Formats: sequence, structure tokens, C-alpha cells
Amino acid sequence: MATGDQLKSLIKSGLEDDKDRFITAALQVAAHEARQGHGALAKELRSLIDKVKISRVKVIPFTPDLKDLVLSTEPGDRLSDLVVSDALKNRIEKILNEYHHKEKLFKHGLHNRRKILLVGPPGTGKTMTASVIAKELGMPFYTVQMDKLVNKFMGETSAKLRQIFDVIKDRKGIFLFDEFDAIGAERNADNDVGEMRRVLNSFLQFIENDKSESFIIAATNNLSILDQALFRRFDDILHYDLPDEKEIKSLIENCLGSYKGTLSIKKVTVESKDLSHAEITQACRDAIKEVILKDKSKVNMSLLKSMIDDRKNAYKRD
Ligand SMILES: Nc1ncnc2c1ncn2[C@@H]1O[C@H](COP(=O)(O)OP(=O)(O)O)[C@@H](O)[C@H]1O
Ligand SMILES: [Mg+2]
Repeated sequence: MATGDQLKSLIKSGLEDDKDRFITAALQVAAHEARQGHGALAKELRSLIDKVKISRVKVIPFTPDLKDLVLSTEPGDRLSDLVVSDALKNRIEKILNEYHHKEKLFKHGLHNRRKILLVGPPGTGKTMTASVIAKELGMPFYTVQMDKLVNKFMGETSAKLRQIFDVIKDRKGIFLFDEFDAIGAERNADNDVGEMRRVLNSFLQFIENDKSESFIIAATNNLSILDQALFRRFDDILHYDLPDEKEIKSLIENCLGSYKGTLSIKKVTVESKDLSHAEITQACRDAIKEVILKDKSKVNMSLLKSMIDDRKNAYKRD
């Protein structure tokens, strides 16, 4: 049975209509039950909470001047869909867990990690991770269009950034600064060096001064061009890599599902060397299409290999 404190917190947040605190209190009850050895009840409670969390995202439209710069999308993927190393998955779970227990941390003068930098090659799940965090926390998901911010609003980028950070403060959500390199890279170009340095500096300051509850997630393919000073502003840096054999196996199983025929994962791993998670997923989807259009039922080794070859050849030009 839940403790007196937990019950009080549940009732109080319920009556005050504070959904976040209610969910946190309910999660604490579930954790308590799990510790008491009531595993089945704990699981049932968690799945009840999950359903509420997932369905309560509401998206408010932006003002016209920010509409082009900040896109809101409906997050779809769950953490279980994301195929990454165990170490990386643990880091993401830690982010979610700290959020769920943020009040407990606040009481000790600490904050949940929410300013995160994602680094790694294209197609390895950086954007997907930001969307997964939004989905798992039941928060709206916003993507800041960095390229537009830098190109279209040249000269007023810092002012636009300020507006965006005002929004971050006003509405709790997951804000992804995708292709974040746009600021860092252009900074080195001959033209507009001054402008880019100013933008980068104000970005750093905005991140540092941000005391909101929103998540600020920046993603980049290229760590080397970014300023070291930037790293200190983040609570955590997550590194993404091309998939290893175990990840390739999971990707294929998740994607092919019942279409999976006889396949040698070893062989697929050799064939798909240097391909990203996104490309392998795409090769699997292409293979499923072939199966459907040819009225077959399973994806076999030779079909998957030819779809993988197609992906590899897509980059070659002769
Ligand atoms: N680690 C991953 N696990 C599962 N699917 C992935 C992963 N990485 C990429 N994908 C697939 O590829 C798509 C594009 O990946 P994305 O997250 O945009 O890559 P990035 O942002 O690193 O360039 C995803 O929507 C998903 O379908
Ligand atoms: Mg991306």
C-alpha cells in the first residue's frame, strides 16, 4: 500500500489539477509497490500512467513570425523502437527518470538534466531520440529550423533566437535545435564571421540563462567544428554511432517483422558496413515493398542484399 505522504501528494495534485505532479506521485506509488514485491500491481499502475501521459499532448499554434522557424510535430516512436547501444539507452533512460523525479532533486537543490547535445553521423537516431523523449514524457515536440534562422533572418538571428527562448520559457516542451551546425559552421566562413560569432554567443547565453522546464536538445553531425565553450552549457552529451551487429539484427527484426525470411545476420552486417540505422531501415522497407508488389511472403537474403546494394549505390555517381 502507498505511504501516507504519497497518498497526500496524489490527492493534492489531483484536486489542484496539476497533471505533472499527479503523474510523478502516481509513479512514486508504482515504484513503492515494486519495492514491496508487488510487481504485477506496479506494472499495471505504470501502464495506466503511460496511457494518460501519451494522450495528453496538445499543440498550440505559433504566432505568424515564428511559424516558419519552429515546427511542431506529433512524436510517434517509443523508446523501445530506438535501436542504440545499451550504454546510450541507459543515458536516455536517466534523462527520463530524472524528469520523473525532478521534485525530489529540487528539494536537494539539484535539477534534472534537460539541456542535451546529441552528436553523431546522419541517420543514427538523433532526431528520433528527441522525438522519443517528447513521446515518453508526454510533451509537445518542436523543431527549430536552424538553417532558416541563419539564412533567412541574417542580421536579426539573435533577435529571433530571443523570441524562441521566450517561447521555451512560456510553454513547456521538447525543443530540438536540429542541424545545429548551421551556427557553428558558418561562423568560420569568410563572410558574416562577426554576425555568426554574435549569434553563437547569444545562443550560448540563452542556453545558460534558461531556467525553464523545457528540454533544449541540440543535434549535430559534426563535433569538431563546434566551439568547446558550447559543451559546458549542456547537462549531457550523447554520442551516436553507426550500428553494430547486434543493432543491425534488432533493426531488421523490428522493421521486417513477419516478413522476415531466412537471413544470415552476419552476412547482412558485412553487406551493410558503413550504412546508418536510417539506411538499413530504408533497405528493409524497400524489401517489404518488393515482396508485396511481387505477391511473395518473405524477405530472403538475396532480396535484402540487393536492397542494401541499392542504398550503397545511391551515393555513387558515374
Ligand atoms: N537508432 C535508431 N533506431 C531505430 N531507427 C532509427 C535509428 N536511427 C535512425 N532510425 C530510422 O531512421 C530515421 C531517420 O533517423 P534520424 O533520427 O532522423 O537520424 P539523425 O537525426 O541522426 O540524422 C528514423 O525516423 C528511423 O526510422
Ligand atoms: Mg536529424
